[in-house]
Formats: sequence, C-alpha cells, structure tokens
Amino acid sequence: SGFYFIYPTFFNSLYYCGAMRKTFTQKLFRWYSLYKRNLPWIGSNDPYKVWLSEVILQQTRVEQGLSYYQKFVKKYPDIQQLANAPHDEVMKMWEGLGYYSRARNMHSTAKQVVEELNSSFPDTYEGLIQLKGIGQYTAHAILSYAYKKPFAVVDGNVLRVLARYFGIREPIDTPKGKTLIQQHADSLLDKKEPDVFNQAMMDFGALICKPRQPDCENCPLQKSCAGYQQELTDILPVKSKKIKRQTRYLHFFVFRAGEKILVEQRIANDIWKNLYQFPVIETSKNVSSKSLMESEDYQAFRIKNPLPVITSPIFKQQLTHQQLICRFYIFDLKSIDKIKRSGVKQVTFTQLKQLAFPGVIRDFLKINDYF
Ligand code: ADE
Repeated sequence: SGFYFIYPTFFNSLYYCGAMRKTFTQKLFRWYSLYKRNLPWIGSNDPYKVWLSEVILQQTRVEQGLSYYQKFVKKYPDIQQLANAPHDEVMKMWEGLGYYSRARNMHSTAKQVVEELNSSFPDTYEGLIQLKGIGQYTAHAILSYAYKKPFAVVDGNVLRVLARYFGIREPIDTPKGKTLIQQHADSLLDKKEPDVFNQAMMDFGALICKPRQPDCENCPLQKSCAGYQQELTDILPVKSKKIKRQTRYLHFFVFRAGEKILVEQRIANDIWKNLYQFPVIETSKNVSSKSLMESEDYQAFRIKNPLPVITSPIFKQQLTHQQLICRFYIFDLKSIDKIKRSGVKQVTFTQLKQLAFPGVIRDFLKINDYF
C-alpha cells in the first residue's frame, strides 16, 4: 500500500517540474520577443566581441558599459589590435569603469590568445577557463553566445530572478546557493537557443525583476513565482555576508613647477593597480595637515620652502569594500627635480591627460582649471 501512497506524489512532482519548465521558458521567450533590448553585442558570433562585452558588463550596468564597448570595438576591432596596444592606452580607455583588474586581465588574455592560440578563442569550457579573467560565468557566456553551445549563464541578474522565482532562501553568495541556482538555470535552459535564453534572462532581470522595486505588476511569471506568491520579493535574494567597509585616508601631493608635475604609478596589489596618481601618503585615521607635514613620509620628500600650500576640500570615493577619504595638497615649487620618492616621474600637463587616473583624481582634476 506504501507503493500507491508514494507513486502518485512522485509522478506528480516530475510532471509538475516538466510543466513548470515549459511554462517558464515559453513565457520568458514571449516576453523577450516583445521587450528585448537592442544591444550591439547581441547576435554576434565573434567570440572576441562577446568576451569584450561580458568583461565590461561584469560589474557594470549596461547603460554605463555601452559607450565603453563601442569605444573599444572602434579602437580595437579585433583581438590582435587589442593585444598590440600599449598597456597604458588600454588602461586609459578603461578609465572610469572601475574594477581595473578586469582591464589588466583582459589585455593579458588578448596577448595570450594572439601569441599562443593563433588569435582564436577556445571553444571549449576547459580551454576558456584557463584564461586570465575568464571564470565560469564568462566561459558560459562565450560558449552560448558565440558558439551556441548549451551553457546557462548565472550572473547577478540570473541569481536574483531564480532565487525569487523558486523562493530560494539559501544565501546566493555561498558555493551551495550558487550551485543550487546554477542547477535550476541548467534545467530551464533552452538547449536549442541557449544564447536567446541567456540574453532573455539578463534582460528580464534588468527590466522586470530589478534589484529594488521589481515590476511584479507587469511580470509574465508572476502567477508561478514563489517569491511573489509568498511576498518574499523584498527579502530575496538573501546574502550571507554583510559588506564590511574599511575607511582609508589618502593624502595626495600635487607637486608642480611650471608645466611640470610629479606622478607615480600604482604597482602594488591593491586598488587601482597600474593606474596613476600623485605621490600619496596613506593614514588609517584622519590627521591634520600639520601632523602630516611632520610625518616621516612627508619629510622623506625633502621639500624646501613648501609654503604656501593649497589644501583641497575632501573628495570621497566609495568602493565596494572601502570608503576613501582623499585630500590634495597643491605645492607650487620652483623645481621638482630633487623631490625624493622612488617611482615618481615628471610629466607635462599635456602628458597628464593621457594617463589613466582613479575616479577621485579625475574629480579633482575636473574642478581644477589649472590642469
Ligand atoms: N550583463 C552581463 N552580460 C550582459 C549581457 N550580455 N546583456 C546585458 N546585460 C549583461
């Protein structure tokens, strides 16, 4: 009798899954055919362009990334041209997009593909995953968009859509939560049109199932959405980690003499690696400019007759895990030839404009007509 008891339940649940899958994907496709965004990388089977767009869009919204994509494709129409570009030029092109390791990895991968792979992108997961800056997400995107292979992409959009739709309370920033959602995405994937399915999920997450105030009223999946039915859309997806923010105080020294100015490149494995800045002293607490000038770091510059110094207002920049509080101390000097600091170099104001700077420094330069 146990058999009869279990059999229908088991059968029903399989049947139900099948029906749900069909409904979800059909409704998604119908919605997508009506509302899809017209984005320039769609329909491209050029893996270089797919890769470029995905690297740009990894931590960037489409509205912001679009003009960068167009700028890159115009300047470097193929991977050889990107590989052969000077690194500073690539960083300058990336300026303002943030998460600069993406640009460093992208340039290094371009070189590798050109030099070791005869300029053509691998068309297998194993081949792609070995390249710098290409993780599971980007590999799946390239395989599905460029090669039409059945790989489901799971980015922030997809995590959110599926966590809500299936009412998943498992945190999405843990391996367990990610795997769970990847499995759902794999089972929903339309294997004949994986590229359309993946792009539809992204657009749906961006336009309907938005992070805040999702548009449930106009959602074609509302009736079968567990999150909506259980009124969980505001709390899903769940994240386990609260972001801890560190505060850093950066004091930039703008040493200039006539048309010359001192800059240095950031080389440490820290924020803004390979970008340029003015010689900096960092403190973990707020300090007065007087105690700053008395510090060993400052004394090491060996500035003679420093006054008058112009002190800028505070410039702030919020990064994901860091709050940056920055100030600029502008020194007009007779000469900057003797300032001691390893790695600094003199540039003219014209050369300054060719270098890639972090956001705060660009903000500072923008309000300073002098430069
Ligand atoms: N975000 C990441 N990849 C994307 C894509 N291909 N289209 C739209 N948004 C995206």
